[in-house]
Amino acid sequence: MACTLRLPRVARSLARAVCPATRYQLAPLSTAVGGGQALKGSVVATSSRFSQVRGAAASPATDIDIDGTAYAFMSSQALFSALEVDLFDHIAKKGGAAQIEDLQQATGISAPRLQILVTALAAMNALKRSPEGSYSLSANTERFLVRSSKDFYGDYLRLQMGQQFYRHMQALPQIMKTGKGPTYEKLFADPAEADTYTKAQHNGSLATAGSLCKRVDFSGMKSMLDIGGGSGAFSIVICRKNPELTSRILEFPEVCNTGEKFVAEEPADVSERIKYVRGSCLNEWPTDLGEKHDVALISYVSESVPHDAIPMMYERAFARLRPGGLLIVHSFMVDDSLDGPLLGALWSLQHVAVNANGLGLHPANVGDMMTKAGFENIKNQDMIRKMTKLVIGQKPM
Ligand SMILES: C[S@@+](CC[C@H](N)C(=O)[O-])C[C@H]1O[C@@H](n2cnc3c(N)ncnc32)[C@H](O)[C@@H]1O
Repeated sequence: MACTLRLPRVARSLARAVCPATRYQLAPLSTAVGGGQALKGSVVATSSRFSQVRGAAASPATDIDIDGTAYAFMSSQALFSALEVDLFDHIAKKGGAAQIEDLQQATGISAPRLQILVTALAAMNALKRSPEGSYSLSANTERFLVRSSKDFYGDYLRLQMGQQFYRHMQALPQIMKTGKGPTYEKLFADPAEADTYTKAQHNGSLATAGSLCKRVDFSGMKSMLDIGGGSGAFSIVICRKNPELTSRILEFPEVCNTGEKFVAEEPADVSERIKYVRGSCLNEWPTDLGEKHDVALISYVSESVPHDAIPMMYERAFARLRPGGLLIVHSFMVDDSLDGPLLGALWSLQHVAVNANGLGLHPANVGDMMTKAGFENIKNQDMIRKMTKLVIGQKPM
């Protein structure tokens, strides 16, 4: 789907960076075979110099790259392992280039396996190897995976992807067959699980919240409901930019405990305007949430609750808004044609691993549920390119 909106650089890179399989699929087979050159970083091209490629007879641009897809988990783990041992930070601290001996010393890993990891990262273009054998950071790695960079989102990838969703996704084939799997409520009854997830989400959502402020004019709004607001990233960023706005966040208790710490780190004029309310959006919404709000935000929650709870959630948001108030639904969504984009589709699938009875979202079915809840003037647009979308409706005046 063509995106006509200006996207923040972090969102663009996030869309590119999260799924290594995308990169493999973009490597045209004809380049490798016709040119006789193996394309660096591509499983397809490397094995295709002199023979028909197993599992990739047709062009990866129009057909599945079977090996690239099946082996993409190896690239993911290379990235997560590098983040776990602070490899990119060590290179940055060495001035942007380091020898393997420097990295052995810095990581405390002197065994040959560190070279194996570094070689894999160079093959993935995360690192560049000079003819003299020193390793430097690629532009994306330096900007997005080095902790001192303002655009760093390595903790989101390391913690939520590497330590949590990676593990949950292993159960997907079984969950697909049985419909039995964990739920957010059960997972987040464990304080450590909720804390890790929420810290990671904060690292991932701050930039996205900034993008939302570029798309929606919150000026003049006085009160917001942030349903399933997690770390408070959206409430914090929107309240920072809109000094008259207050926000109430409905969340599971263990998530509130972590989120309240992030809120407390803000200057008093922001932190005083954000309050957590403990509960589940699947139960009766607590009266502490208040009413007659100007805006209700439901970000990444519609895919996190059972499909038959979504209409009820939108109806409850409708009841809590003033006439003319906005419901903003932000979620992983595919296009209404239900054939992509890939990252939106895979993220929706990933949610099956933690919400087996969830619904695959796209603007038409979200808009339909919002219309049935009473909203009008429903509009949608892309948010994180090829991954998430916004659907916004208004309560009639
Ligand atoms: C991916 S996080 C998104 C957090 C936040 N909205 C954001 O965009 O940064 C999904 C959040 O939904 C919350 N959630 C899921 N089911 C919920 C429920 N039944 N009641 C309240 N929150 C829920 C989770 O606790 C989690 O914090």
